[in-house]
Amino acid sequence: MVPQKVQTALNNQLNEEMFASYSYLAMSAYFESHDLSGFASWFRAQSTEEYGHAMKIFDYLHQAGGKVTLKEIKSPKTNWKAYLDVFKDMYAAEQKVTKSINSIVELSGKEKDYATNNFLQWFVSEQVEEEATAQKLLKRMEMVGNNTPGLLMMDRELGMRASGQ
Ligand code: FEO
Repeated sequence: MVPQKVQTALNNQLNEEMFASYSYLAMSAYFESHDLSGFASWFRAQSTEEYGHAMKIFDYLHQAGGKVTLKEIKSPKTNWKAYLDVFKDMYAAEQKVTKSINSIVELSGKEKDYATNNFLQWFVSEQVEEEATAQKLLKRMEMVGNNTPGLLMMDRELGMRASGQ
């Protein structure tokens, strides 16, 4: 049985992951509307990945005898002044998710909920990867700026990511 405080934190995290999914979908729509379909498809795949994170928590709560409580998902930001700003937002969002995961790891330790503590280790590793990817793309976008050939090259490269990866 998952302690009540941990259940609440996991349900909040489930909501955060759904919000991340929704935010990346908004980023995908933004790039689609600017005819950068490679960027759009990368963010769409990222959105699917975040949905997967939410579902991992959904499944875990059920397996561990907890209760899933679904809440309203906030509206995501849908417009940006510059392409670079999307990447700044993504990096900041992933750093926020890392903090939030770490706080539940800490809470589960305090509550002696070793099963959840173990379950969350996957998210701890995943966040290292997510932050590294976001930071790498942000740095590359800083280099590219508004250089059209550079943007088109990145668009082609990002478009090679298969959906859901
Ligand atoms: Fe599920 Fe990108 O954090």
